[in-house]
Amino acid sequence: MPSTGVKIAGVGHYAPSRIVTNRDLEEWLETTDDWITTRTGMKRRHWASEDEATSDLAAAAASAALAHAGIDARQIDCFIVATVTPDYYFPATACLVASKLGVSEKPAFDVAIACSGFIYGLTIASGLIRSGIYKRIMLIGAETLSKILDKEDRATAILFGDGAGAVILEASERDSFLASDLGADGSRPELLYAQGSGARRPLDHAALDAKVHLIHMQGRETFKLAVERMVDATDSVLQKANLEKADVTFLVPHQANRRIIDAMARYLDLPDDKVVVNIAEYGNTSAASIPMALSETVRAGLVRPGDLIVFVAFGGGLSWGAVAWRWAA
Ligand SMILES: CC(C)(COP(=O)(O)OP(=O)(O)OC[C@H]1O[C@@H](n2cnc3c(N)ncnc32)[C@H](O)[C@@H]1OP(=O)(O)O)[C@@H](O)C(=O)NCCC(=O)NCCS
Repeated sequence: MPSTGVKIAGVGHYAPSRIVTNRDLEEWLETTDDWITTRTGMKRRHWASEDEATSDLAAAAASAALAHAGIDARQIDCFIVATVTPDYYFPATACLVASKLGVSEKPAFDVAIACSGFIYGLTIASGLIRSGIYKRIMLIGAETLSKILDKEDRATAILFGDGAGAVILEASERDSFLASDLGADGSRPELLYAQGSGARRPLDHAALDAKVHLIHMQGRETFKLAVERMVDATDSVLQKANLEKADVTFLVPHQANRRIIDAMARYLDLPDDKVVVNIAEYGNTSAASIPMALSETVRAGLVRPGDLIVFVAFGGGLSWGAVAWRWAA
């Protein structure tokens, strides 16, 4: 039995001011607004400026969440950033974010599991609170994927955007965490990866010429697996929580492709207004997409106490997961 429950006490999000529309992409890529809209549902994405890095976006989202919760950063016991675009190879981006918020000496670490980062982070942070180790955790999904995009590759350059979403998790008598279902399969990393300066192929001039530091994806295969895994994870998390598909109030899915989200919605038999979609504005922001979508929905006043939210994601790893969450006042 958990010693305490957990709830979300505040949410916030931030996106860089530079907007890149489909029409902008047409200027240097062999693509069209119509192709991108039809195949992905994306219309715009936000890209960070040269002097903006992931910790800047994360700190802005965290500040918004602190204001929303009405608390000070010094009341946070632990900082977690889910990202695969850290400012540095090390130290962890979470250390930088805590410092930007004026906090030192509190634990801070990153979770690097690509688009599933928020789901993994929510599971870890909820566990830390429910076991009584910490009372308040700042969990942020933050990415500057534009920095590792091959801007000449029309198959990936159109898909990804930058942004950050933050939630403050807090100990609570009533427990919002109902169940989690996580998975990973590392047998085919090349389906979706950025080799970066990893130990498998340390960065040298030849590696740079081969663009190993940028995102590579086999889109069609990834698409198929994304639908399968997200449906399975949703089924499994509802079963663990002893709930039915009909109980779901909101689905907050990772925003990778509108067609993937629509397939999920059809499977769950959810009407449009119960499926949170902001892909047209932000594109795929990896670990940031779910907390950004949640923050927009909560701040619009659409989420009510007692609502059942299912968060679900799929991404590089391959990795996937879902969390069932009962919204608390
Ligand atoms: C990337 C994605 C949008 C591509 O859509 P798709 O319908 O699978 O398209 P395909 O890759 O099969 O390509 C179809 C054609 O469009 C072309 N094409 C690819 N990108 C294009 C673009 N931006 N503009 C115009 N044409 C493009 C391809 O070259 C291909 O041409 P061909 O038939 O002459 O070979 C889609 O596969 C996808 O969203 N994948 C999953 C992403 C995901 O889930 N990621 C995991 C979480 S991050």
